[in-house]
Amino acid sequence: MEVLMRNMFQSLGKSPSANKLAKKYGLRFGAGRFIAGETIRTAIDAVRRLNADGKVVTLDHLGEFVFTKEEAIESADMCLRTLDAIAEAGVTSNLSLKMTSLGLDISKDLCMENMRKILDRAKKYGNFVRIDMEDYAHCQISLDIYRELRQEYDNVGLVIQAYLYRTEQDIADLNEINANLRLVKGAYKESPEVAFPEKKDVDENYKKIIKQHLLNGNYTAVASHDEAMIEFTKSVVKEHGIPKEQFEFQMLYGICEELQAKLVKEGYKVRVYVPYGIDWFGYFMRRLAERPANVWFVLKNLFK
Ligand code: FDA
Repeated sequence: MEVLMRNMFQSLGKSPSANKLAKKYGLRFGAGRFIAGETIRTAIDAVRRLNADGKVVTLDHLGEFVFTKEEAIESADMCLRTLDAIAEAGVTSNLSLKMTSLGLDISKDLCMENMRKILDRAKKYGNFVRIDMEDYAHCQISLDIYRELRQEYDNVGLVIQAYLYRTEQDIADLNEINANLRLVKGAYKESPEVAFPEKKDVDENYKKIIKQHLLNGNYTAVASHDEAMIEFTKSVVKEHGIPKEQFEFQMLYGICEELQAKLVKEGYKVRVYVPYGIDWFGYFMRRLAERPANVWFVLKNLFK
C-alpha cells in the first residue's frame, strides 16, 4: 500500500496537467505547511521568522516544467529577484535552484548563461548558490556544469544523493575541487540499476559519504531529518575535531521543527530549505511520497 502511494505521488508530481491545475487553484490541501507561499514577500516573511529563531535559510523559487527559452529566462529572473529581495531585506538566506528550470533540457549553453547571471548577482551580494540534484537523467550533466562553474566561481555548491551507486566515486572526484556539497539520501524514483533499492543500504552509504566528505576537509551540509544520521554526524565531528564552521545541518520547511530547534539550542548551524512560488505541486507531491503519513494531514485540511 505504502509503495503504491509513493509511486502515485511521484507520478502525479511529474504530471504537467496536474501541475497546471494546481497552479490555477493556488496553495491548497495543507501545502502551506511545506511551502512558504506564492510570492517573494511571503517567502521573505518566512525567512525573517526563521532567522529570529536562530536558523539560516536557503530560498528556492519553485519552477519545474520549463519548455521554452523564454520560460527559462523568466525562471532565472525570479532567482535574480530572490537574491535582490534577500539583500534588500537584510535577511540571512542563500539560494537553491534546479537547473532544469533554467533551461537545462533545452540547451546546456542556455542553462550556463542563466547560471552565470545568477552567480554574478549572488557574488555582488556576497551570497551563495546551491544547485539541487534532480533525477538520474540529469546527474552527469549537473556534475559537468558544476565542475565548469567551479573554475569561475567559489560561491556555488552542489547536491549529491546517497542512493546512487556512483556517489562514493563522485565524492572522491569532487574532492579535487574542494566542492561544497549538500548530502541527501535522494528523493526521486530511480531504477535498481543505478540506485540502492533498500533503505538500509542508502542509510549506510549516506553515513559513508558524510564521513568521507567531512574527513576530506570539505564543507558539508547534512540535509536529513533522520536522527540517526544527525547523531552519526555529531559523533564524526566530535571524534575528528571538525570545526563547526565546516558543516551544517539542513532540513525542509515545516518538517521536524522540534529537531531543528533542538540543534539550534545545542549550538549547531541549522539551515531551513524554504520553497516558494506558484509551481508548488511537484515539490508537494515529493514530500508526500517520502512520508505517506503526511496524507492524513492533507485529508484533514481537505475537510476543513
Ligand atoms: P528518511 O526519509 O529516512 O526520514 C527520516 C525521518 O524524517 C522520518 O522517519 C520522518 O520522521 C522524517 N521525515 C522525512 N521526510 C519527511 C516528510 N516529507 N514529512 C514529514 N517527516 C519526514 N533530494 C534530492 O534528490 N535532491 C535535492 O537536491 C534535495 N535537496 C534537499 C534539501 C534539503 C534541505 C533536505 C532536507 C532534503 C533534500 N532532498 C533532496 C530530499 C532528500 O533526498 C530526502 O528525500 C528527504 O530529506 C527525506 O530523507 P531523510 O534524510 O529526511 O530521511
